[in-house]
Amino acid sequence: MQRLRRLRSSTTLREMVAETSVKKEGLIYPVFVTFGKNKKEEVPSMPGVYRYSVDRLGEIAEQVFQAGIAGVMLFGIPETKDECGSGACDEQGIVPQALRFFKEYFKEKGKSFLLVADICLCEYTSHGHCGVLEGGDVVNDKSLPLHAAAALAAVRAGADMVAPSSMMDGVVAAIREELDKNGFNNIPVMGYSAKFASAFYGPFRDAADSAPQSGDRKSYQMDFRNGREALRELDSDEAEGADILMVKPALSYLDVVAQARARTLLPLAVYNVSGEYSMVKAAAVQGWIDEKRIVKEILTAFFRAGADIVITYHALDYVRREEEK
Ligand code: PBG
Repeated sequence: MQRLRRLRSSTTLREMVAETSVKKEGLIYPVFVTFGKNKKEEVPSMPGVYRYSVDRLGEIAEQVFQAGIAGVMLFGIPETKDECGSGACDEQGIVPQALRFFKEYFKEKGKSFLLVADICLCEYTSHGHCGVLEGGDVVNDKSLPLHAAAALAAVRAGADMVAPSSMMDGVVAAIREELDKNGFNNIPVMGYSAKFASAFYGPFRDAADSAPQSGDRKSYQMDFRNGREALRELDSDEAEGADILMVKPALSYLDVVAQARARTLLPLAVYNVSGEYSMVKAAAVQGWIDEKRIVKEILTAFFRAGADIVITYHALDYVRREEEK
């Protein structure tokens, strides 16, 4: 008989042989920034997650700073939208304003802190799709320069990293070229490489007001039945010059994460998305699960599967709870 229980018999032994831990320096917290003044609105479907106006960002900046996590990822909710999502490229737009705020805030603290800008058009287009819409479909190549311009605007405003999330073919290369051309060859690109068309984004679309007005995103986001194709997406982002690859959502896609880990030498991120967060919160509110233990188990699973970076709405709660004990 193999006595596998031998090494489980005390806390000391278990701690000693533990293979994985959650690295808080690998956590990124998503922040929603909204137009207007003096706003802190809870997202109804995401308890504990708020939309802040720029003048109220100090509150969340202090919390992420205290937590000692890697950084934040910014999403904007602009006041007005148009057909081609031009707000995404506006250097005075909502995300650039927030970036300038955070940049200044952390400069005063004298601490390095990562500001990641999600690059997509869906929050800025009147139709809610992630690119230019023609004849009911998103036109890939016409959407690329808009993404490149959005990335440049974000970087000029202080983004330390950009993360294109629209699943346009060639978007990583287009952004890389634009950044290099403008002297930003040191700014990394994190590709949302294998991003699946997922019902798990439901609460986010409430939060960011970015649901497509017609149709769905299946002509650009991946079909969740496909694992091999996910590897092609990861390969192609790597070939286009991505510095970090991502799999999204996370929980139902750990098979893809494990395969990606075995395949690429690049750092790997997972996005623990809104629906995954809301399910945990909903069950916790009912008293059906132990939120603290569940979240730790989930976050650990991401690292065990091979992720180096976890983008998660649980980040602040997680760190706070860990440091309580
Ligand atoms: C924008 C974007 C989405 C998410 C991140 N960036 C929404 C979508 O693709 O519909 C989802 C994040 C989440 O659900 O937490 N394209």
